[in-house]
Amino acid sequence: MHSHMDITEKLIHWYSANKRTLPWRGEKDPFRIWLSEIILQQTRVEQGLPYYLRFISTFPGVHDLCRAPESQVLRLWQGLGYYSRARNLHKAARQIVHLYDGVFPSSYKELITLPGIGDYTAAAIASIAFGEPQPAVDGNVKRIISRLLDMEENMNSAKTYTRIKDTCRELMGHHDPGTFNQALMDLGAMQCVPKNPRCTLCPLQDHCLAFKENTVAERPVRYKKQKKKIRHFNFLVIETDRNGCSYVYLEQRKHKDIWTHLYQFPLAESTGLWDESTLPGELIKIFPKQKAFTIKAISPPYKHLLSHQTIHARFFKIQINKDARMESNSWISIPREDITLYAVPRLIEQYLEKEF
Ligand code: ADE
Repeated sequence: MHSHMDITEKLIHWYSANKRTLPWRGEKDPFRIWLSEIILQQTRVEQGLPYYLRFISTFPGVHDLCRAPESQVLRLWQGLGYYSRARNLHKAARQIVHLYDGVFPSSYKELITLPGIGDYTAAAIASIAFGEPQPAVDGNVKRIISRLLDMEENMNSAKTYTRIKDTCRELMGHHDPGTFNQALMDLGAMQCVPKNPRCTLCPLQDHCLAFKENTVAERPVRYKKQKKKIRHFNFLVIETDRNGCSYVYLEQRKHKDIWTHLYQFPLAESTGLWDESTLPGELIKIFPKQKAFTIKAISPPYKHLLSHQTIHARFFKIQINKDARMESNSWISIPREDITLYAVPRLIEQYLEKEF
């Protein structure tokens, strides 16, 4: 049996020769490390990188982020998804300024009290920015350790999580915590990947029990996921002309559903998508007083995947006569070209790029 020291030294040696060059590597400013970790929580490095750069150029420090309106933060986040990350980022910036006088909290214990910072993120920031020995266990780390120990247990259980974290703590020993954690992250992103891992090039091959038992492809054990909820969204892209200017309607989404506080075209959710044959009847139900509609375009169906839901959507472009006033007081009328000022879900952004 090999010792932990062997494993960790090989890992760190591999990391020093192979690590990715990323703008937050070598960074000691906890604000920037925090920002990178929030962006990377549910996002791949290639996708998150331009967002990170735009954020730090817009908000070089925590005071700049604190001062910004939430709408600006959401707008800058647009396209990354999981918008609660952006709202929590903003809330946490306010807490850091008001409760900590703008000085970034420097311990795991304080960090984990901030909005949007859970066990993984608190450990990542504490270790990378402040050298605190806290293992940061994300999906990559779970995969590596489950293979290294050839673990058969369910990855979603608290007990497994604790076992993985304890293993990481032992492996970390007295090595630099930030380096150790990031070495595991890069190994998971570059070598010990989910499909077709590059075991023949892996620095930990000699220690990997799954490799020895030929079970790498079966680790981590995947338990069947819960079925995703399927929803059907009919968006009404209602255009009116007033004083030679073209307007559209938007509404802001409310609490307790997806896309909280983002803007969308007025939405009718249904059990199946409307189409050209069902649309006229549905419009009469929504606008009993309105006589003159012109259906200008019906989009093809869009399919949008979220982590727990599948959204089927269609966009119906409808022209109404100019003196029509829509009844719903939650709708706002905006000049067509002002749509770029509003934070919209990625699905709507895709429609705007293609067909609006
Ligand atoms: N994923 C999340 N945080 C990371 C980091 N600091 N380096 C590489 N990948 C990461």
